[in-house]
Amino acid sequence: MMPIIMLLPFLLLSAAEAQQQQGTSNVVKPGFSLTPKTNLLSPSGLYAFGFYEQGDGYAVGIFLAGLPQKTVVWTANRDSSTPLPADVKLEFRTDGRLVLHSAQIKETPLDISSDGASSASMLDSGNFVLNNSANRILWQSFDHPTDTLLPTQNLPKGQVLSSSLSKSNQTRGKFLLLMQQDGVLAMYPVDTPYTDVYGYWTSVDWGSVVPNTIGLPKVIDGILTLDGDGHLYLFNGSGNYTLNPASGNSTELLYRLTIEPYGIMRLHSHDMTQTGNWTLKWSRPDDGCKPKGLCGLNGYCVKDPDVDCECLPGYVPVKEGDWFSGCKMNFPAESCPASSKSKYTMNESNTQWINDNDSPFKSFTPENCSDACLQDCNCVAAFFKDGVGECTKQSLPLQFGRTNSSTVAFIKVGTSTLPKPGKKEHILIIIGVSLGVFAFIVLAISGFGIYKNRVMLYQMMPKNGNIELGVDVAPKSFTYAQLENATHGFSKELGRGAFGTVYEGAISNGQIKETVAVKRLDRSMLAEREREFHAEMKVIGRTHHKNLVRLLGYCHDGLNRLLVFKYMSNGSLADKLFTPEKQLSWDKRMEIACNIARGLIYLHEECEPQIIHCDIKPQNILIDEDGCAKISDFGLAKLLNVAQTRTFTEIRGTQGYIAPEWRQQLPVTDKVDVYSFGIVLLEIISCRKSMDSNLPEEEANLKEWANHCFNSGELGKLVNNEEVDKRELEKMVKIGLWCTSDEFPLRPSMKKVLHMLEGIVNIPVSASPASSLISF
Ligand SMILES: *[C@@H]1O[C@H](CO)[C@@H](O)[C@H](O)[C@H]1NC(C)=O
Ligand SMILES: *[C@@H]1O[C@H](CO)[C@@H](O)[C@H](O)[C@H]1NC(C)=O
Ligand SMILES: *[C@@H]1O[C@H](CO)[C@@H](O)[C@H](O)[C@H]1NC(C)=O
Ligand SMILES: *[C@@H]1O[C@H](CO)[C@@H](O)[C@H](O)[C@H]1NC(C)=O
Ligand SMILES: *[C@@H]1O[C@H](CO)[C@@H](O)[C@H](O)[C@H]1NC(C)=O
Ligand SMILES: *[C@@H]1O[C@H](CO)[C@@H](O)[C@H](O)[C@H]1NC(C)=O
Ligand SMILES: *[C@@H]1O[C@H](CO)[C@@H](O)[C@H](O)[C@H]1NC(C)=O
Ligand SMILES: *[C@@H]1O[C@H](CO)[C@@H](O)[C@H](O)[C@H]1NC(C)=O
Ligand SMILES: *[C@@H]1O[C@H](CO)[C@@H](O)[C@H](O)[C@H]1NC(C)=O
Repeated sequence: MMPIIMLLPFLLLSAAEAQQQQGTSNVVKPGFSLTPKTNLLSPSGLYAFGFYEQGDGYAVGIFLAGLPQKTVVWTANRDSSTPLPADVKLEFRTDGRLVLHSAQIKETPLDISSDGASSASMLDSGNFVLNNSANRILWQSFDHPTDTLLPTQNLPKGQVLSSSLSKSNQTRGKFLLLMQQDGVLAMYPVDTPYTDVYGYWTSVDWGSVVPNTIGLPKVIDGILTLDGDGHLYLFNGSGNYTLNPASGNSTELLYRLTIEPYGIMRLHSHDMTQTGNWTLKWSRPDDGCKPKGLCGLNGYCVKDPDVDCECLPGYVPVKEGDWFSGCKMNFPAESCPASSKSKYTMNESNTQWINDNDSPFKSFTPENCSDACLQDCNCVAAFFKDGVGECTKQSLPLQFGRTNSSTVAFIKVGTSTLPKPGKKEHILIIIGVSLGVFAFIVLAISGFGIYKNRVMLYQMMPKNGNIELGVDVAPKSFTYAQLENATHGFSKELGRGAFGTVYEGAISNGQIKETVAVKRLDRSMLAEREREFHAEMKVIGRTHHKNLVRLLGYCHDGLNRLLVFKYMSNGSLADKLFTPEKQLSWDKRMEIACNIARGLIYLHEECEPQIIHCDIKPQNILIDEDGCAKISDFGLAKLLNVAQTRTFTEIRGTQGYIAPEWRQQLPVTDKVDVYSFGIVLLEIISCRKSMDSNLPEEEANLKEWANHCFNSGELGKLVNNEEVDKRELEKMVKIGLWCTSDEFPLRPSMKKVLHMLEGIVNIPVSASPASSLISF
């Protein structure tokens, strides 16, 4: 089972490492701490838990200390990307928590739920285990894999291995390996539905089994095991199969299975008797261009023979060297109706893409297919299928592209290129082109709507906590007295919101005092049932995103309900926008808009259950010390039963941000947040409040005023003479107006909004403000 132990004499520990080992046994108790110079080694010294170098700092994880490569096999806090400074310390607290701190970073807990842990041990299998005082396992790294599976470790049904961004950056990347409920092992790009449209490899392909697209029975089981001898066993309810051929019988080999940054799963072995490198034993899929979305939007994968990403003719990488970022147009986009056709030509490209248009035109020749696209101002590319003479016109973005010598795509290319962007690192603006007749090409995730009618190959997996690996740090529970003390009797008020009042406080964790924001929820609004409060705290506590304010703890004591949040030192967006002296540059403001959009995408699409914020406004967007915007107060609407009682709108009173469906007894969907986001975006553009009765009457309502300025072509009036790129301004206003459509089904999803903000997709003409004019 554990051949490694026998290899002790072979392990090559440097003198420094041998020293580190002194004084650190492999089982530690609360009070123990680590610095980047010390590690917790497993008994044989093969594995270590502790700091490893990442970027220009450190990250915490488990790595192979016994190998010169120091290969990382597990990473904590994978989604908080900033590298830790050299003076960082990791403490095992008496309450069982593992907490990071340094002079520069505020206290950060690891995403390990270890409340009540009384011992931690690093085992020779590579498993890091926390036990409670009754010697029950509370948490172990083997149950929360990142991108690697080790011998004796299992991947049970519903669990994933998810790739890292790059070899040197363990942040969660673009692909995942999923052990499905139906016993099939499969690989998908992240953020796509688990269907055959997006999947790029499944275990049923392997061997002689032909994938049966429809009739797969819903098997109740599935588990993947990596054996000590390098066999991958897949148990699928009906049997236990080995995926890979026998790879040797040497007990001196150490194996690891990793899903690598570019979406390939590889089994490597390392000969423990030698100082050599890892040897590749087996990998899937064989074709490096298979992982879908590898080259981002409008980019395609080539193999000659090495895998590489290229841009369509006339397109350039969004970020040089970053495949995932995709490509953008390098010529002025065509506007509709077309002013002069001669500015565009068609280029041919032997590439294949996902075809988003189900009804191709028939009886075409290559020539008139190409011509049909050239003459259509809404078309950016046409796919031609020989034999049947099918021609499919497409709009941006094109996705999942790769070369294929037997397919022909015609790409519209401008005869002039865009000027090189100056020092402003701006994504080029692609507006004006739009589509009309052809359905707006839907992005992977929002394309779900289109594909949902298609047969689903595999049972859908719930997007539950199992998949959101390692983000289950529970918020801490406080008593009322503790928080009263922490806030000096609620003496320093930071602000007042729809849900309650916020006070500044300080919580001590050992010697360190951390400034926090304590929100006292309005008693009259509370959903009384205790179970709901706890369930909701769990949901909020599980959220973990750069653009959300983190919930640190809560109090449920008698009638008191309080929430403890991370303190944001830079105040709120409202403060920044509406205080003339504090005004931010246009670029900074647009970055903040993208930050808010990202936070909302997470709440809407990645949380299970979905979280609808219901109260997006600049007062609820906080700015941290790095200037990064974070959404606060999410999850409270549900807690306070807002959707059911509808008392919310009355209490808030401020009409400015509320979608019309609130007033119309229509169901409340995530589109209420899109509406509020649209209003906030207009405020970000113009640095003024959505309602301002000090202004002349026609300007008082920002949405109406923006609409007026847009229709009269006087957008400059919106930004008060600020120097802003005209096309960029027009684009932003268009997005803001589209988001604030009165008809909620017409509003775009937040994902689409972000892609438009980033300039990766066009704004369709059907979404132009004219069709969504407000009618009060
Ligand atoms: C890893 O990538 C993320 C996302 O691009 C970035 O924010 C972070 O700084 C990177 N970390 C390191 C150590 O390079
Ligand atoms: C932790 O608990 C497991 C299961 O009860 C036990 O096998 C193991 O020895 C414990 N570890 C330590 C360090 O006590
Ligand atoms: C289990 O896997 C084997 C081998 O891939 C395959 O032959 C069998 O059909 C699978 N059973 C089910 C129920 O999927
Ligand atoms: C499948 O077989 C392997 C090798 O015998 C074993 O290690 C593994 O536990 C088995 N899996 C299941 C689910 O029985
Ligand atoms: C398996 O072990 C036998 C005997 O120890 C050895 O002769 C053979 O080469 C080994 N096979 C492999 C593939 O390493
Ligand atoms: C192991 O191989 C990798 C990739 O081929 C290489 O970058 C690395 O330097 C090698 N490490 C050692 C210790 O040879
Ligand atoms: C389009 O094709 C023409 C002729 O093959 C070529 O000269 C031109 O460079 C191509 N344009 C782009 C942008 O690749
Ligand atoms: C394309 O051209 C072919 C041959 O010239 C012609 O038969 C066909 O009708 C044309 N198709 C369309 C849609 O114009
Ligand atoms: C290339 O295109 C042809 C025809 O559309 C298709 O049959 C084939 O599978 C494609 N090749 C690859 C590698 O996808």
